[in-house]
Amino acid sequence: MSVMTAAEHRIPAAIAQPIFEPSAYADGRIFETYRWLRKNEPFGVAEIEGVDPFWVAVRHADILEISRQNDLFHNGDRSVTLVGQDADRMVRERMGGSPHLLRTLVQMDAPDHPKYRILTQAWFLPQNLRRMEEQIRSLARAAVDKMAALTDANGIGECDFVSQVALHYPLRVIMNIMGVPESDEPRMLKLTQELFGATDPDLGRQADKPREEREFDFGVITDFFNYFNAISADRRAHPTDDLASLIANSRIDGQPISDFEAMGYYIIVATAGHDTTSSSTAGALWALAQNPGEFRKLKSDLSLIPSLVEESIRWTTPVKTFMRTATANVRFADRDIRKGDWLMLCYASGNRDEAVFDEPDAFRVDRKPNKQLAFGYGAHVCLGQHLAKMEMRILWEELIPRLESVELAGEPAMSQAVFVNGPKRLPVRFKMR
Ligand code: HEM
Repeated sequence: MSVMTAAEHRIPAAIAQPIFEPSAYADGRIFETYRWLRKNEPFGVAEIEGVDPFWVAVRHADILEISRQNDLFHNGDRSVTLVGQDADRMVRERMGGSPHLLRTLVQMDAPDHPKYRILTQAWFLPQNLRRMEEQIRSLARAAVDKMAALTDANGIGECDFVSQVALHYPLRVIMNIMGVPESDEPRMLKLTQELFGATDPDLGRQADKPREEREFDFGVITDFFNYFNAISADRRAHPTDDLASLIANSRIDGQPISDFEAMGYYIIVATAGHDTTSSSTAGALWALAQNPGEFRKLKSDLSLIPSLVEESIRWTTPVKTFMRTATANVRFADRDIRKGDWLMLCYASGNRDEAVFDEPDAFRVDRKPNKQLAFGYGAHVCLGQHLAKMEMRILWEELIPRLESVELAGEPAMSQAVFVNGPKRLPVRFKMR
């Protein structure tokens, strides 16, 4: 592995270790690692036992530059998430040599990637989303009413904001778009949590198994396949105007989309479409509960809501990392990158980069400018970014005018995962009208 040759840019072992530790993403140690790296080794090589060496991009500018150069830095050549060598071997054995269990947009490169992305892109553009605004608002209102129903005669209530509010609203929105019946939402929620939370002791399905067996949960993927196979067959026989029908009946190069790739499409939209948004929403309420001054600022000026949305996404950065693979030898960021080298994009570090953000560790509802990069950049930039922002904006428009105060009512907790993580528990006490 050629990155081994870059000895002068090797990250000290104790600094590199947390990058591969799911718990470091839950207890905040990863932010210390990132701070150290930005200052001392902003583009170094992590050599962690049991993991192929990889470059670690922690600066805002480097993350954007790698993301922009899609021909030079591929998604599909190796795993797009950080996995250990054992897990990688298990996947390749199962998948006939491929490093991927699924073939979704994030595992593809040109020329295939644009052909698949274009199929659904129009759905997620602001013009199309606008026609759903009222429907989304009624779902947001229902979520806020549910919270209000938990209050006493004085308007005071307590809840776990994650499990009682934040998780359900974006789930309902994306399942509506997909065409998944409401009765199946608990199943989708559980499967998504098991997928992204595979390494979390509370969320993963096989908490007792060794790390390499938890990194990719074959059982969860099989359950997703079985579920969406039935949906796909139904929409081919009885197409409707939902997104599942569009995917099921789409054509690539004049041929019907394959079942394997249709499954990948359903799974990425169904999973990426809610967990990330709930995490940003819960992360924002957590920060507001801890920063009453910011809450008051927002209450006195509701026109700050769009800026709150950007700041919540920066603050939480639910997608922590993605991997890329170099397709050629290249000099990048004063380093010699070799063809085949694996690189990690650390979005949460880019979003705390002192070179770009004033007081990056402060949560500010009126941060301007806010060049957060939590949706990525380049050809793979988040397909659902406008939807995510719209959902959050609408929820805050419904909630903030009615919410008079909010404070923590217990110990919040973050999920333990290297790829996608966010609050898994947020006990709050609040007053509503
Ligand atoms: C706060 C919420 C969200 C965050 C932080 C987020 C973050 C991301 C990131 C970092 C990527 C990879 C970008 C890159 O490689 O440059 C991505 C891709 C993607 N996201 Fe999101 N996402 C969010 C919400 C959504 C929603 C609501 C959907 C609903 C459809 C969605 C669907 C996707 C899809 C399909 C991709 C793959 C795009 C591609 O590879 O072409 N995401 N997202």
